[in-house]
Amino acid sequence: MRIGILNSGGDCPGLNAVIYGVVGAASKLGWEVVGFRDGFEGLLPPGDFSILEPDKIAGILPRGGTILGTTNKGSFAAKVGVGDVMQVAPEIIDRAKATLKLLEIRALIVVGGDGSLTTGMQLMEAGIPIVGVPKTIDNDLAATAMTFGFDSAVSTVVDALDRLHTTTDSHKRVMVVEVMGRHAGWIALYGGMAGGANIILLPEIPFNFEAIRKTIEAREAKGLHSTMVVVAEGAKMPDGGLVTLENCAGSEHRLGGIGERIAAVIAESTGKETRHCTLGHLQRGGSPTSLDRMLGTRFGVKAVRLIQEGKFGHMVSYQSYHVGSVLIREAVEKPRLVEPNSEVVETARAVGISFGDK
Ligand code: F6P
Repeated sequence: MRIGILNSGGDCPGLNAVIYGVVGAASKLGWEVVGFRDGFEGLLPPGDFSILEPDKIAGILPRGGTILGTTNKGSFAAKVGVGDVMQVAPEIIDRAKATLKLLEIRALIVVGGDGSLTTGMQLMEAGIPIVGVPKTIDNDLAATAMTFGFDSAVSTVVDALDRLHTTTDSHKRVMVVEVMGRHAGWIALYGGMAGGANIILLPEIPFNFEAIRKTIEAREAKGLHSTMVVVAEGAKMPDGGLVTLENCAGSEHRLGGIGERIAAVIAESTGKETRHCTLGHLQRGGSPTSLDRMLGTRFGVKAVRLIQEGKFGHMVSYQSYHVGSVLIREAVEKPRLVEPNSEVVETARAVGISFGDK
């Protein structure tokens, strides 16, 4: 028996751990695993793939990125952000089916976020047996308590904040650190809290500059002359607008620049020397943490088990320390956002962190 695997969308630390888990579990069953390159594009005839044998993938566990390559563009786009679902062109789906038929692939594992899993569902509706594995550093997929890649991204943020605190304190400055997080502020929240930020700005909690100024001035009055601000790239400016680097028709806008904008306003309103730093793709690169290697491996093995059980249309899901599964349809219905009144936000407020709202 042969199964296929592809990953699609932005890369994410831990993708190779999923491949490692899938190949390990499949080879025990005597199954062969075909890895498609560059997301769904690898399905287009004549097919861009390689056979993933256990000895060929030895040593991939600590590697960042994905040995299969990936793309967040191409002919299989089914959803842009949290926007409307688009139908992948029937002739593209037919061509993908033809490749899978020729290679005698009995099931396909799709490792992806919201958009890629929506494409996976459309392939499933067209008769291709699909099993999903959730992937996103943003941790914004409902129906799984955590996705691999998130912990690695948060570790990068914390490491950066540890370094930035020393220079910021030495100069008695304000530092604004922009982190990833398009629709959800999980990276900013966890990275900011664990890295000792004083102000955290999220897409889910509207902020205003008056509250930020007051927080910085209150700190000054207490003799705390430096302030660390963490802002998610997807936080909205007080006028409700996103700050973008590039507006891309038909795909997600490239976010970026909010940190610089906020730093300029803070410098102006407080008179404090203010610097900004954008962590960008550092958060997506590098070796996965042990937690992400574990999650990825467990997700990969579970995906093979779902195929064994014939649970097509299901996605691997992590809940209460247990790896189970949910219907892909349910998983892509809505994003998992930070709840403004949740325990973790309350915890942050309890230790004096401001969300720039009061
Ligand atoms: O969705 C994951 C993510 O890392 C976002 O946080 C970020 O906005 C986006 O991908 C960046 O995508 P790209 O690699 O295309 O610039």
